[in-house]
This record gives sequence, C-alpha cells and structure tokens, in this order.
Amino acid sequence: MNKDIKILAIESSCDETSAAVVVNGRKVLSNIIASQIDIHTKFGGVVPEVASRKHIEVISTVVQEALEKANVTFDDIDAVGVTYGPGLVGALLVGLQYAKGLSYALNKPLIGVNHIEGHISANFIEYKELEPPFVCLVVSGGHTFIVHMKDYGEFEVLGQTRDDAAGEAFDKVARSIGLGYPGGPKIDKISKQGNAEAIKFPRANFHKECLDFSFSGVKSAVLNYLNSKKMKEEEIVREDVAASFQKAVVDVLVENAIKACKLKKVDKIAIAGGVASNSCLRETMIKECEKEGIKVLFPPLVLCTDNAAMIGSAAYFEYKQGKTAPLTLNAVPNLKLGQR
Ligand code: KG4
Ligand code: ZN
Repeated sequence: MNKDIKILAIESSCDETSAAVVVNGRKVLSNIIASQIDIHTKFGGVVPEVASRKHIEVISTVVQEALEKANVTFDDIDAVGVTYGPGLVGALLVGLQYAKGLSYALNKPLIGVNHIEGHISANFIEYKELEPPFVCLVVSGGHTFIVHMKDYGEFEVLGQTRDDAAGEAFDKVARSIGLGYPGGPKIDKISKQGNAEAIKFPRANFHKECLDFSFSGVKSAVLNYLNSKKMKEEEIVREDVAASFQKAVVDVLVENAIKACKLKKVDKIAIAGGVASNSCLRETMIKECEKEGIKVLFPPLVLCTDNAAMIGSAAYFEYKQGKTAPLTLNAVPNLKLGQR
C-alpha cells in the first residue's frame, strides 16, 4: 500500500494568513485562516504594507495551530507547500520565506504553488473522485479566467478578463453604493431584497468565439447611473442597483462558461475563487448548465476564498510529479497559470 502523503501548506498572497495540513491532496486535517478583513475594512481595501506586517505577526501561530489541529508534528510532514504567486509581493514573501525556512530546517521538500491552481484544486477536496479534464471558471478578487484543465498541472486558458476581475468589480460597485469592504458578500446579501430586472446594465460581448470578459463597462455604467440619479435628485434603491449589477456579471460568467464546455466537449465545470461563493452565480450556473447536461461543481464557501488547504491540494499533485522547488524560489507577483 502507498504511504499517505501529508503536506503542510502555507498561503499569504493577500489578506489571509493560512496554514493547513492536507493528506493525499484530498483530505483536510486542518485549515487555519487568520483573516485581516477587519483591519483593511477601515481603508476600504487591502493595504499591502499593512498586510505584510500582519502576516509576519501571526504566521508562526497559524502554522502551529494547523499542526495541533491536525494532531501531527513537523516530523509527520512529507513536504512544505507554499503560494509563491500571483499576489502582493510583500505578502507572498512572508509565507514563502517561512516555508523555505521550514523546508531547510526540517530537510523536507519545498513545493511552490500557483495561487490560481490552488483555487482550482479546492474542487479536488470537495469532490474526491474528480479527475481532469474539466473546465474551471476562476473568479476571485484579482483574477477572472476560464481554464481547460487537461491534466494535473496542465492548463489552457480559454478566456480571461481584459480589465477588472469579477471580484474587483463587486468590491468597487459595493463601495459606490456605500457598502463596506469586501463588497462581494454584501452585494450578494442585499441583492436578495432587490429586483435584478430593475436596471439594464450592459454586458460586454466580444465576437462569438471569444471567451474573454470585461467588467469595467458595467462598473462605469453603475457609477453613471448613480451620478445621474443624484443629479436629478431621484431616489436610489441600492438593493435594485446591487441585484441588477450582480445579474449583469453573472450572466456573462455563465454564458462563457457554457460556451467553454461546448468548445472543449466536456460535461463538467468547476467554479473556484472568492466570487464562487456568490449565491446568484451558483443558482444561475446550476439552472443553465442543467439544460445543457453539464455538471456544476462548487467548493464549500470556506474553500472558495483564500485558504491554505487548497494550496496543500495543489502541492500534492506537484509533489506526485516530482515538481519540488529549490530554496532559491522567489515570489512572482504576476505569475501566470501553468508558468513555472
Ligand atoms: O479568492 P479571494 O478570497 O481572493 C483573491 O484571490 O482575490 O476572493 C476575494 C473576492 C473579493 O473581491 C470578494 O468581494 C469576492 O471574492 N467575494 C464575493 C463573494 N464572496 C467573496 N463576490 C461576490 N459574492 C460573494 N458572495
Ligand atoms: Zn485567491
């Protein structure tokens, strides 16, 4: 029988310091997440320098807690996995340096993980039988991609945003209607009381075969709508603005995701990233994909937003392919999917 592989994973690419212990890429023994949201809320967004400092303050405790919760010691760990990009360079460096220190001191292999591959891998934790190929829609605060995952570690980007990421648009629109940071969950919540058909915001469409996105247009349309209402001293129904904006974003995400499945002739689509927890996206995706015979996969909410368990899963598949990293591994803030 093959020995179980236990990976200690570390994630610090943005405003969550997280450490997890994951067995064979699929079973989570612990997943500790120290969120900095309360600190950044005051500034209306993530302040990179503050994020790095906070990561430094908590990382040792977070790693220790992950080991304790998993009931393992450093000796039980087979490898150390860590996010090395994309993300905020100062934030990435904290997790990376810590992981390199551990790898060196424990004499265990280091595995560098692409944060986006981590988000996609969250689906392997939830769906134990899931194997590539499948299409994945990655929608987070910094990224919007449609990817064909052909095999473990093999990605073909089919479409991506040409300007704002989906989550970024959620956050900016939320701010414009007076909701705090992070805006996505708040828009999701108040949209439930709004009418999604109340305002017709534009959907960016490129030519028929193109699977790219653009969200700056819809964001500007919301701002113009708010300005014109204010100038005319007319009432703004925030719930309707939120619901109509959310629908405009969700419609294009779902449309392109289905196009991608048809193009690649695959019958399953996985959703990943913070915006994957959006309830309208989940409902619409399930409804529309059902019509096409496509199965929709979603990680649970805690694995949608940034966490180290997803990094531990991605690290395992790298480890199995012998893809360990040297101790000279550096942070790559704009690391591309599939790039090494
Ligand atoms: O994946 P993530 O935690 O961090 C990045 O790697 O960017 O995603 C955070 C993003 C934020 O923009 C947040 O507003 C958005 O995900 N988000 C949501 C929801 N929950 C989080 N957007 C829409 N609806 C939600 N329920
Ligand atoms: Zn993320």
